[in-house]
Amino acid sequence: MAGSTVLAALKLLSSALLLSQLCAATPVKLEERQAYAMIGDGFEEATMTLGSYYNYWSITNGTYDLTRSQRAPTTSPKTLPMMGDRKAIKIEPNRTALVIIDMQNFFLHPELSPGAVDGRGAVAPTVRMIEGFRKHGMKVLWVNWGLTEYDLLTIPPAFKAGFSGGSNLANETFGSDMGTLKENGTTIEVGRMLMRGSWNAEPYGVLGTMKDEGIKAGTDLWFDKNRLSGLWGPQTPLGLWLQENEVSTLFFGGVNADQCVWSTLVDAYFKGYDVVYVDDISQTTSPSYAVNMTRYNAQGYGEFPQVKWQKQS
Ligand SMILES: *[C@@H]1O[C@H](CO)[C@@H](O)[C@H](O)[C@H]1NC(C)=O
Ligand SMILES: *[C@@H]1O[C@H](CO)[C@@H](O)[C@H](O)[C@H]1NC(C)=O
Ligand SMILES: *[C@@H]1O[C@H](CO)[C@@H](O)[C@H](O)[C@H]1NC(C)=O
Ligand SMILES: *[C@@H]1O[C@H](CO)[C@@H](O)[C@H](O)[C@H]1NC(C)=O
Ligand SMILES: *[C@@H]1O[C@H](CO)[C@@H](O)[C@H](O)[C@H]1NC(C)=O
Repeated sequence: MAGSTVLAALKLLSSALLLSQLCAATPVKLEERQAYAMIGDGFEEATMTLGSYYNYWSITNGTYDLTRSQRAPTTSPKTLPMMGDRKAIKIEPNRTALVIIDMQNFFLHPELSPGAVDGRGAVAPTVRMIEGFRKHGMKVLWVNWGLTEYDLLTIPPAFKAGFSGGSNLANETFGSDMGTLKENGTTIEVGRMLMRGSWNAEPYGVLGTMKDEGIKAGTDLWFDKNRLSGLWGPQTPLGLWLQENEVSTLFFGGVNADQCVWSTLVDAYFKGYDVVYVDDISQTTSPSYAVNMTRYNAQGYGEFPQVKWQKQS
């Protein structure tokens, strides 16, 4: 498919697809032989449907069709190769979005996070990914820490301790003034830590410019979050928008891969979205943990040979 070739050239292929939990209140009729289709009994090319009419995947020959096209209209679905256990996915652009998490000055600027070398390395692939998504009419969603005074009152002490940079725990965490830094001879007010509208909570470098352009053009949207996950609890601004716009498939990138990206991805999975972890735009200061988490979940659960369920006769 022409579209997927373009996207693949943008390294969109660096993804592993995780299984989304599907509501199965009214299961589509499943022929018994189709349940065997994954285990090499000669029916690999049969189409298997998982889920109900309202929410389902169709799987043919290792390609997971996520478009739910019998129930909802399609525009120009794209088929993309995957890195994980599943070979390929087919997506409907109008119901697919890119979620970019925490690519903020606080986590990436060399003066504020000198160790975030891999995160800064993710900027260039993220730019290409944004361009690919915009080109195919798929929304780009910026999901970032953006705290309010109310959040400072209600956020638990465990989070304040976790984000405290110094020995003065109470005054060196969310909401505290981070002073100034100098860049190219200009003094920058870093602002209060991860507060909405502060400089440190803005996307880093060229991503800030791209975010502004995208929001102006209507291709991108901005969502503040007040926990590691942008989809925690009963509802969040991001969750409400996804629900109201009937988006079902989410691609994830940002920092840190094993923290904010991962917890948002896991919450999305729990809430029933199809979730795609994009390897080269998800980075962290603790890469071996992220590698193990994603490998464990996307490539057959750790180092044990994957046991396929087989019906006993
Ligand atoms: C199924 O996949 C195999 C191996 O990738 C390929 O040879 C075959 O042509 C595919 N069949 C269909 C119907 O796409
Ligand atoms: C899907 O397409 C409709 C009709 O063009 C448009 O109004 C809507 O914004 C699109 N949704 C997304 C998430 O792109
Ligand atoms: C934190 O800062 C406030 C205002 O500057 C000050 O009144 C307070 O004593 C400080 N708390 C600690 C534990 O240093
Ligand atoms: C400082 O210079 C670099 C390199 O030219 C540029 O990328 C960056 O945006 C500049 N920073 C500011 C605050 O102007
Ligand atoms: C990741 O997994 C590899 C292989 O099992 C192991 O050697 C390594 O210690 C793990 N890394 C961490 C941080 O646990």
